[in-house]
This record gives sequence, C-alpha cells and structure tokens, in this order.
Amino acid sequence: MLRRLYHDQPESFAFTPENQKWAEAQITKYPAGRAQSAVIPLLWRAQEQEGWLSRPAIEYVADMLGMAHIRAFEVASFYFMFQLTPTGSIAHVQICGTLSCMICGAEDLIKVCQDQIAEKPFTVSEDGAFTWEEVECLGACSNAPMVQIGKDYYEDLTAERFAEILAELRAGKVPVPGPQNGRFSSEPLSGLTSLKEFDSGKTKYNASAQLAVDLGETVKRIDGTEVPILTPWMKGKDASTVAAPAGAKVAEPAPVAKPAHAQAAEAKAANPKAEAAAEVDEAEPEVLTAARAEGADDLKKISGVGPKLEQTLNELGFYHFDQIAKWTDAEIQWVDNRLKFKGRITRDDWIGQAAELAKKD
Ligand code: FES
Repeated sequence: MLRRLYHDQPESFAFTPENQKWAEAQITKYPAGRAQSAVIPLLWRAQEQEGWLSRPAIEYVADMLGMAHIRAFEVASFYFMFQLTPTGSIAHVQICGTLSCMICGAEDLIKVCQDQIAEKPFTVSEDGAFTWEEVECLGACSNAPMVQIGKDYYEDLTAERFAEILAELRAGKVPVPGPQNGRFSSEPLSGLTSLKEFDSGKTKYNASAQLAVDLGETVKRIDGTEVPILTPWMKGKDASTVAAPAGAKVAEPAPVAKPAHAQAAEAKAANPKAEAAAEVDEAEPEVLTAARAEGADDLKKISGVGPKLEQTLNELGFYHFDQIAKWTDAEIQWVDNRLKFKGRITRDDWIGQAAELAKKD
C-alpha cells in the first residue's frame, strides 16, 4: 500500500508538557550520540497524543533526535502501526482480514464498518468519531474474527455484537475487550476438556482484558499524566518518582536538550538576566566561507551529527574537524546558540571527537 503524508496538514505539533518530559526521558535510555534509537517510541507517543502522525509531528520528533526529517518519515511510513491520515476522534478500528478471521466472518465486520463508519477505509465517519482499516493477522486467530479498537482486542465477534460495540463507544462507553461470546480466553467454547483443575477464576476477565479494564485507556488519547515515566535514573531530575530496582546498574545520563523554543521560554521565565548574560558570554569562532582546497571533512563522523546538522555547521562556516576541536567554551556557546537543540555539543563531546578525528586525517 502506498503510504503518504496526508494532503491537509496542521500548522504545528508539540508534545503536552508531560509527554515532553516522557519523551526526553526515553532519550536517556540510549548512549550519547544514539538518540535516534528513540524514534519509534517518540513517534508512537505523538500518535497516542494526536491519534495520527502529521508532518509537523514527524518533524518535531526528528528535530528532538537530531535526525534528518526524511529519516523519521521513513520510519513512520514503513511501519503500518503508524497512521499517516487523521483518525476518528473516538477510535481507529482495525479489522483483521487474514485467513482465520476471514473464514470466520471478517467480511461481515468490514460491512459493518462500511455501513456505520465510511464506505472506504481511512475515511473519517461523518460524525468524526471513527475511522477503519483492514489489517493483517493480529495474532488472535483462535478468537477469530476479531478487531483491534484503540489499544485492545475485541474477539469472537459477530456482526451484531461488533455493531453494538461501535454504538457503545459512540455513546461514550468502553465495552470490555476480549472474547465477546462468553469465553474466558481461547478455551473450547463447549468448555474445558483438559487442565480442568486450572483455576481461571482469580480475575473476572482474562489477563489481557483485565489489564485493559484496570487501565481504562482502551481508546484514550495519552497526554502523559496517566503513567509514570519508567526511567528510574531520572528520579529527582524529572517527573519520574520510580525508585531504581535493587542491584540495577543504571548509568547517570547526560542532560537531555529540550527543543530550543522550550528551552528559551523556560530560561527566560526563570531568569531573564542570566539568559542575557549567557548571550553576552558567547564569542564567534573563526569561520570559513568555504572548505579548504583538500575538501570538507565528513562531519557526520562525529557521533550525534547527522546530515542536517552537518549542513547547518557548513552554513555557519565549519567544514573541518580541526576547526571544531579548537572551540573554546565561549565559542561553543556561540555555536550552541545557533543550533536548534542546545546542549548537544558538550553532551556528545564534539570537541573530543573532533580532536581524535583531526588526528587521523
Ligand atoms: S487471522 Fe485474524 S488474528 Fe490471525
């Protein structure tokens, strides 16, 4: 299937403050210079917040991670779990159309979607509440036919029950996920034939359905206030209040840069005089109008510098490792003030890396 950016894009995207903290904490899970490894969780959180991934959202995440925008788009367009078109305000419904579900009635479920949501997939219903699509096997074949709505599975469906579920969701309720025909999980419908001594009565529903009920976030948009930030080493530095597990070896992370606009706003609010002083302290390094005759160094060899940052550095007048290796603190400040995300020069030790690379050249 051709996956493209939606033709009508919003002006901008920003994480909610809590989601921003969560996203910054995720980045600290990876070594310096490897922030890009957080691209999937950050894109996913953006989608959990907005319901789909707009171009500004993809670019925002790319900028946070120092990636070229196209690299983040490649990830978003590759994985079908990312929605590139607007989804319904209540839920996006994913109908499994693979073998078991198709044999057991997936076409009837699709007909319900066509009748009650929209004739074509990825089309927002007239009331704006739902969108739908057909997806490949969701791994619940023994409970076919099934659909995923929001985060949870509704299994052992009939067209009638599925229509009821959509009506309940429209009415603001969240039906209990899991089997819809009275089964606890995937045991025979006629009752257990083995493992009869197994006590399945500890919880009202099977573990997945019970967790879904307990969390209550099946179709909820996530703004970051729902769950703790599970990065214990951020305790005291950020929103997490989770203690480090006993014996856990957790590295002390380098500080994570917030987006420039957020940093600027926070710094100004906290101490406008200090901010002004920081600007006075900067000193312009020696810059070049073009690379020397031997040609520009590949600045992307500096861990943490991608094609976009290399281009920015070139535009500022830096083409060679030895130029970067010589930056003083005041000169680092000058460059930092001209990068979109501040703090990465020291965080990723560009000076040390550039000095090593200059020696090899
Ligand atoms: S075929 Fe539908 S879940 Fe596997």
